[in-house]
Amino acid sequence: MLDFAIQTARDAGRLLAERFGRKIEITNKSEIDLVTESDLASERLIIDRIKTYYPRHSILAEESGASNPHDQARQSDWLWIIDPLDGTTNYAHSYPCFCVSIALEHRGLLEVGVVYDPMRDEMFAAERGRGASLNGRRITVSRTMNLASALLCTGFPYDVRERNDFARHFANFIMHARGVRRDGAAALDLAYVAAGRFDGFWEEGLKPWDVAAGVLLVEEAGGRISDYQAADFNIRKPPILTSNGLIHDEMMQVLAS
Ligand code: IPD
Ligand code: CA
Ligand code: CA
Repeated sequence: MLDFAIQTARDAGRLLAERFGRKIEITNKSEIDLVTESDLASERLIIDRIKTYYPRHSILAEESGASNPHDQARQSDWLWIIDPLDGTTNYAHSYPCFCVSIALEHRGLLEVGVVYDPMRDEMFAAERGRGASLNGRRITVSRTMNLASALLCTGFPYDVRERNDFARHFANFIMHARGVRRDGAAALDLAYVAAGRFDGFWEEGLKPWDVAAGVLLVEEAGGRISDYQAADFNIRKPPILTSNGLIHDEMMQVLAS
């Protein structure tokens, strides 16, 4: 199923890359939350593929929601969690930072996670208990020992204007870390933590499809994941704080200040 996820993410990524930069139809889900034709085409490709190869599996996809949400009898133990285009705002502005994210959960446990960046042809992949890789080579989180030497990343949720704590957290991290980035694709941000490019990441208000694959990547790359108060992270209950483990407590102190 890892190979299936890799191949499917690659094909969906290729579809996104082919349409990238062209004039595309954009619809607003809210004032700043967009959906493009490409989100929908990518999601269709992924769902069709799953229905062909794993017709009994359940699906949770950003644009079409959950399959069989009210029919317990038809729920499977296997759930595919899909973000067909993470980084839609970037994509709509021809900013080449976006990805496809596909994860597979079995009875609530993440088993497979892949994040594919078609612009750089980078395939991040993880399988429970078998480590994380980038284009087939093993990756691990960074060894940065303290926040002052750390490069962090965050994201701005679409309802950021209603979130009072966000600006304070952001300002505090700017004052304490070496640098803070905001790339606009949460799944890729998490993959970068797994690959040691970012030392830590925090964001509130993310959805399961934004984080499911990335969380498994970080876990399998040796990183730590929690909420802002050190409790276990649940993909259905944001916020998320993730790091190389070494700077986690320092990041938590900043979030508490
Ligand atoms: C968004 C991106 C962004 C994050 C938002 C997400 P989308 O997903 O991951 O980085 O800050 O909270 O909703 O809409 O581009 O799939
Ligand atoms: Ca997303
Ligand atoms: Ca999306």
